[in-house]
Amino acid sequence: MRASIVTLPGDGIGPEVNAAAVAVLQAIATHFSHDFVFDEHRIGGRAIDNSGESLPAATLQACLSADAVLLGAVGGPKWSDPNAPVRPEQGLLALRAALGVYANLRPLSVHPALVNLSPLKNDRLKDIDVLFVRELTGGAYFGEKTRRADAASDVCRYTVTEIERVARRAFELARIRGRHLTSVDKANVLETSRLWRQTITRIGADYPEVRLEHQLVDSMAMLLLTRPGHYDTVVTENLFGDILTDEAAALAGSLGLLPSASLGEAHCGLYEPIHGSAPDIAGKNLANPIGAILSAALLLRHSLHLENEARAVEKAVDQVLIHGPHSSDLGGHASTAMVRDAILSQLAAAT
Ligand code: NAD
Ligand code: IPM
Ligand code: MN
Repeated sequence: MRASIVTLPGDGIGPEVNAAAVAVLQAIATHFSHDFVFDEHRIGGRAIDNSGESLPAATLQACLSADAVLLGAVGGPKWSDPNAPVRPEQGLLALRAALGVYANLRPLSVHPALVNLSPLKNDRLKDIDVLFVRELTGGAYFGEKTRRADAASDVCRYTVTEIERVARRAFELARIRGRHLTSVDKANVLETSRLWRQTITRIGADYPEVRLEHQLVDSMAMLLLTRPGHYDTVVTENLFGDILTDEAAALAGSLGLLPSASLGEAHCGLYEPIHGSAPDIAGKNLANPIGAILSAALLLRHSLHLENEARAVEKAVDQVLIHGPHSSDLGGHASTAMVRDAILSQLAAAT
């Protein structure tokens, strides 16, 4: 098949992990006789340095006409002055909004070879297979913002339509997984959460085969550590989803492992690891590329509908997690390039 893929390497370790993921997609194209056309564009800090804009018009245009977008990460200390007029992260948020990718899928599993890296005791780590569905284009991220010398505000706003569409996506996913959906909110305090809970409950009536439970976000943060195996599919609003999934990544052993897929109604999805630009290790060839490479697998699955190819990538990653080499966040000594090459060798051997 022919597919056009826009790559947005971004800042910090973004270019390092993004290049590794592109190499894996190129290998898939070769092994399975596909024609993937890559088109690289600027976003984030790099784009600000070049043109003053975090999401240049040419980048947005390319993304809107692509089959899929593969992003590294954006941001870093160079652009983090609290008084900066434009920030790298704004470009990413504007892209998510423009693509209409309201459902951010963040799967979590704990690889048996990595259980000793988890801060949790091994007996808590059995059977962990959680899919977080994070609402991605609403809430405090996108509400009205004000800032004065003596006060600031971020409005958290959700419409019923915004809640309904992500709820349906989460119920559909739960239905083909463990038929158990946990909705996370703060309905004891926030009006948006009360609307959230009411709407999720109403939509749940259309999915009687899915067991729905509600959990307040503060206790959810605790329960994720004490009984992670209890959860199957979890749906939550934008900010809670951001925070809970970094916590979840720690269970897996490293933030560098988790991929994500951001989907809307259009077929073009946005794929990025959940981690950031990791300024502390940027440019050192130390970053774990697995979160980015597994994001490429999600791209193959969700935007290109190439399930066998997606599984081939996941299998190759699985083999490298078992046999090594491992990057330093996983306690090993391998560089980004060594992990990438090991995954490419596993792919070549299996296809
Ligand atoms: P971060 O995720 O960049 O890093 C947190 C810690 O995890 C660091 O110690 C880092 O070295 C480590 N880490 C992250 N990814 C890793 C990988 N692949 N391999 C090995 N170690 C890894 O979070 P932060 O430091 O809080 O944020 C840095 C910048 O990244 C900020 O500007 C933030 O806005 C941005 N950010 C961007 C995205 C994105 O583009 N999607 C996501 C999160 C944060
Ligand atoms: C993520 C990141 C982003 C978010 C930032 C960089 C805007 O933390 O993708 O998890 O908060 O959504
Ligand atoms: Mn985050």
